[in-house]
Amino acid sequence: MVLPLLLLKERSINKDKPYLASFVQRLGRITSAQKEALKLLDKFKLIDETQLLGFAPDYKKVILDIGFGNGESTVYIANSNPEALVVASEVYKSGIGSLLGSIVENSIGNIKIFDKDIRELLLKISTSIFDEIYIICPDPWPKARHHKRRLLNKDFLEILHRTIQPNGTIYISTDWKHYAEFIEEAIHDSSKKFEYNKTPQRGLPITRFQQRAINEGRAIHTYLLEALKK
Ligand SMILES: C[S@@+](CC[C@H](N)C(=O)[O-])C[C@H]1O[C@@H](n2cnc3c(N)ncnc32)[C@H](O)[C@@H]1O
Repeated sequence: MVLPLLLLKERSINKDKPYLASFVQRLGRITSAQKEALKLLDKFKLIDETQLLGFAPDYKKVILDIGFGNGESTVYIANSNPEALVVASEVYKSGIGSLLGSIVENSIGNIKIFDKDIRELLLKISTSIFDEIYIICPDPWPKARHHKRRLLNKDFLEILHRTIQPNGTIYISTDWKHYAEFIEEAIHDSSKKFEYNKTPQRGLPITRFQQRAINEGRAIHTYLLEALKK
């Protein structure tokens, strides 16, 4: 069996990219259906913040789904919010192929895919544009020496606060207890920016990573943050 190759690039922190990679580049198997669907990426791609600001006035809401994996959550969110533009963020090629396949199969017209590190987009946005943000099962980075790679920390919550509308909501879920504690600490440190509640799953579908957690007997921790005024 050929194991998927995992590449972890140690990037230096610089002015243009003031953060470490929060994902591993997975060069795993990509199916022929995903490969075929990826040919449509240009049609559904969100290029940059200028394009996003141009699209936004045509929709009642703008929703961001960060690290969508295979896109189960994104499809659900887009179908339940036909009046919203859903910005779907992922760097994992086969996952992007899966979401593109679902978009075509279900004739979904309100999803745009940002296929680079989401911080490349967020750091360039200076207005409150998002009404809702979802982060479902961010990479847990369990080893202590890798905690600095975790996407969710106080700095990232600050970036989200800058780009979300007052009273906008951020839904977070993790299936790793130690990451849950880390997230709770970051939320606590950002208490002037958000009001927070532990919350149930909210009708969202169980994603692939959540299903794996359930099969392995791990609990899913969920949080709902409401942005306070700036
Ligand atoms: C553990 S997976 C969870 C996927 C999906 N939400 C689920 O629950 O099945 C986390 C995903 O976040 C993506 N990711 C991590 N850091 C990211 C970033 N900075 N920008 C965009 N996507 C990111 C990874 O590529 C990975 O597919």
